[in-house]
Amino acid sequence: MNQPVLSLQNVSFEYTNGTKNTRALAPTSLDIIQGEFVCLVGPSGCGKTTLLRLLAGLLEPTCGTILCEGQPIVGTHWKRGLSFQQPQLFPWLTVRQNIEFGPRVLGIPQKEREHRAQHFLTMVRLEEFQNAYPYELSGGMQQRAALARALANEPHILLLDEPLGALDALTREHMQDELKMIWKKTGVTIILVTHSVDEAVYLGTRVLVSSSRPATIIFDGSIHLPGNDGQARMVKSTPEFLDAREHILSLVWESSNNTVSQKGESPV
Ligand SMILES: Nc1ncnc2c1ncn2[C@@H]1O[C@H](COP(=O)(O)OP(=O)(O)OP(=O)(O)O)[C@@H](O)[C@H]1O
Ligand SMILES: [Mg+2]
Repeated sequence: MNQPVLSLQNVSFEYTNGTKNTRALAPTSLDIIQGEFVCLVGPSGCGKTTLLRLLAGLLEPTCGTILCEGQPIVGTHWKRGLSFQQPQLFPWLTVRQNIEFGPRVLGIPQKEREHRAQHFLTMVRLEEFQNAYPYELSGGMQQRAALARALANEPHILLLDEPLGALDALTREHMQDELKMIWKKTGVTIILVTHSVDEAVYLGTRVLVSSSRPATIIFDGSIHLPGNDGQARMVKSTPEFLDAREHILSLVWESSNNTVSQKGESPV
């Protein structure tokens, strides 16, 4: 039996600003196994980003414990790469310098740094803009640069907050296939937040659906699509994909109406 790479044990979180408290995460226990591709969907404002920030070590749970590779999480670590909902590139660095920043801080030798930067620049199709500054990029290009920057540290766990939200439909499908390829090649564990049920069902080996705030996981199911090695457009037209999408969509619909459904397997 595989050991969990991340383990949430009765974790809850509440923001406190002065006298105002906002419960963002209800008590949650969850194990994530190494190599899983977990997609999290749920209504806007329910607490998805909060959960990713807890896993990244940017927030501390109000109650409960989070273990990463068996150790309690204390602060951030390169093993857990995070790509934010709004790409947070360093504005004074070029795209290439942004990608090389993490490996530089980690003391990776220059040759290896340059190799990684080249590799990920090509992957996200930004070679032509490697010397551009973030303000010279479109929103989608900034997202791709941020993804390359997260990948350049070669994290064990990749926490992605709507990484493809600002992309045009064609680039989004291309990037979905790239992400899947990166996941297969590297064995990295991915936890991806998305508002797109299509994306969650296509990419995830496991889909989590959250209720509205405070986030409560109301569905946790595996996805098994036959022939899922093909291209996004092909897989998305199969009956298995359409059935799974319909099932998850109905759960998201219920969750936005605050109806708590049962945990269980998806129909595929
Ligand atoms: N720094 C903060 N201080 C206080 N409240 C916050 C803070 N950040 C988020 N919240 C609140 O916590 C709740 C959950 O926010 P969160 O950003 O986790 O939602 P989300 O599910 O990621 O939403 P979206 O899908 O719109 O990105 C919201 O009610 C939000 O207002
Ligand atoms: Mg969010």
